[in-house]
Amino acid sequence: MKKVLVIYYSQSGQLKDIAQQIAVPFLNDEEIHLDFYAIAPQNDFPFPWDNASFFGAFPETFRQISQEINTPPQNILNTDYDLIIFHYQVWFLSPSLPTMSFLKSSYAKKIIQNKPIVTINGSRNMWALAQEKVKKLLVENQANLVGNIALTDRNINLISVVTIVDWMFSGIKRKAYGIFPLPGVSDKEIKESSKFGKIIKGYLKSNDYKEMQPDLIANGAVEFRWFLISMDKKANKMFKVWSALIFKFPKQRTTLLKCFKVYLFFAIWILSPIVHLIELILFPLRYFSIQKQKKYFQGI
Ligand SMILES: Cc1cc2nc3c(=O)[nH]c(=O)nc-3n(C[C@H](O)[C@H](O)[C@H](O)COP(=O)(O)O)c2cc1C
Repeated sequence: MKKVLVIYYSQSGQLKDIAQQIAVPFLNDEEIHLDFYAIAPQNDFPFPWDNASFFGAFPETFRQISQEINTPPQNILNTDYDLIIFHYQVWFLSPSLPTMSFLKSSYAKKIIQNKPIVTINGSRNMWALAQEKVKKLLVENQANLVGNIALTDRNINLISVVTIVDWMFSGIKRKAYGIFPLPGVSDKEIKESSKFGKIIKGYLKSNDYKEMQPDLIANGAVEFRWFLISMDKKANKMFKVWSALIFKFPKQRTTLLKCFKVYLFFAIWILSPIVHLIELILFPLRYFSIQKQKKYFQGI
């Protein structure tokens, strides 16, 4: 009997759907015992979001300052799992505050230490550097990363900005203004994600995960867009400055968060298209380094 634990946190239910869909091949297998654990923050975030809470979550999320989460059920704390499937979403280019808080808690060590773990993120599209942060937290927990899947919104970057804002602030996954595509990971991709569960199950049974990541990649597990990696790196540098400023002047927090919002708008709508254009022109010069990056970010 193989014991598998699926860990997730989800506000809209998107990541929960993904977690359930990927787990489908495990469900009717008599040789597999499957548990789900939903991370529950003691003070959860609102959904739909309001302005103050959304931007208010930035400094602590980016600086990875954890919050208290409820104790996981005793049966989960006491089970010696064979495989952990860890789902997280990206907030401000970092693992979301609830999922990061779990990884920084004492419960994480008890559950995932010395265990093979597959990370699965469901984000808008800018997930790559958040995964680097998750990798560090896994090392701190002495967990053994054996696979990674990144499910994203496949629409053009700026379109997905419009649609996710509408979704996060209305709480409804709808066609923004009646003309935009649906936000988030597409229903089709979520439905088809059980194929990843099938692949993971095969490696779980053979107890050897060496070839699993290439197998997942061959089945479309990780979308790579070089321009997003470049934006992610640049934005991380700027977020570092902004978050440091906010912590240095706690009395000005509200004002600084308003300035951060204006900066973000400017960076997304003015700076990023200009940088994108410059990088498109330079693309031939960077071709080989981009191929190297692709290999790295599609690996584990
Ligand atoms: C506060 C906040 C910040 C976010 N920042 C990012 C981000 O930096 N990169 C990204 O790709 N998606 C970002 N997203 C989208 C989430 O990763 C995720 O796709 C969305 O919140 C749906 O997840 P859910 O299952 O919790 O509803 C952000 C969402 C929220 C609420």
